[in-house]
Amino acid sequence: MTRHVAIIGHPVSHSRSPLIHGYWLARHGIDGSYGVRDVAPENIDRFLADFAASGLVGGNVTVPHKEAAFRTCATRDSVAEALGAVNTIWLEDGALHGANTDVHGFLANLDAAEPEWTRALGEAVVLGAGGAARAIVYGLLQRGVDRVVVANRTLARAQALRDQFGPRVLPVEWRDLGGRLMGCRLLVNTTSLGMKGQPPLDIDLSALSPDALVTDIVYVPLETPLLRAAKARGLATVDGLGMLLHQAVPGFERWFGVRPVVTAELRALAIADLKAKGQFA
Ligand code: ATR
Repeated sequence: MTRHVAIIGHPVSHSRSPLIHGYWLARHGIDGSYGVRDVAPENIDRFLADFAASGLVGGNVTVPHKEAAFRTCATRDSVAEALGAVNTIWLEDGALHGANTDVHGFLANLDAAEPEWTRALGEAVVLGAGGAARAIVYGLLQRGVDRVVVANRTLARAQALRDQFGPRVLPVEWRDLGGRLMGCRLLVNTTSLGMKGQPPLDIDLSALSPDALVTDIVYVPLETPLLRAAKARGLATVDGLGMLLHQAVPGFERWFGVRPVVTAELRALAIADLKAKGQFA
């Protein structure tokens, strides 16, 4: 029987998940489908509570439904428990179960692009304190990073991350960021600044050590102004497209029983899609 899976969000038509999973389904010759389900916020609880009636065996959950999925799942993996958000769901024994694969996506992307990135890492600086930042701060702490400095326009949200994850998180005012870059070996942008249509992320990178790594979770455009500025200084950079590709791996394995690989061919397909939609640069 064909196994149907979909991404569930609102709006969701722009999602690249069908491209990613469609590539793996074809590559592995699996009898499955990966579609799109736009579910309005007022309907999401009912949709998830009666998930078996949807005809799907699982799915990805994206904005704004990750918290609803968290609430509805009968069981959740430890990452989802820590983050209060579920992005991957599946039916098992008639019940809905959930996981969060964003942390895996972030870490696996860095591992693939810069295998030595955790060596002598010491301090990391995370810009932003929203849902994406929570996942990344959690992932960095799990990997043993000594200290994660979180700079956010709204300081209270950075402080909330310290309250949740403990004293290895150091919240700082956005305007004090410059002074924190000196000891930083990894700089991560999780804000929407630099995204197409948004103002650029305009920070002075001159204090960063020459062996610092700069990464951005924004991938529209693929080379954000932050990454361009980092490259111009000769710093190593990792773009955000890989996080999207890698976060998809555990879900595919869960639904279809094959652990897929993020290949150069898949990345090229995703880049071609960005170009076709005028989102590459
Ligand atoms: P996500 O779940 O994708 O992380 P979010 O919760 O909306 O999204 O968080 C967006 C992040 O980008 C926040 O850190 C936000 O800062 P605030 O907490 O102060 O809102 C940051 N951000 C968005 N626009 C910004 C801007 N113009 N200047 C600085 N930070 C901005």
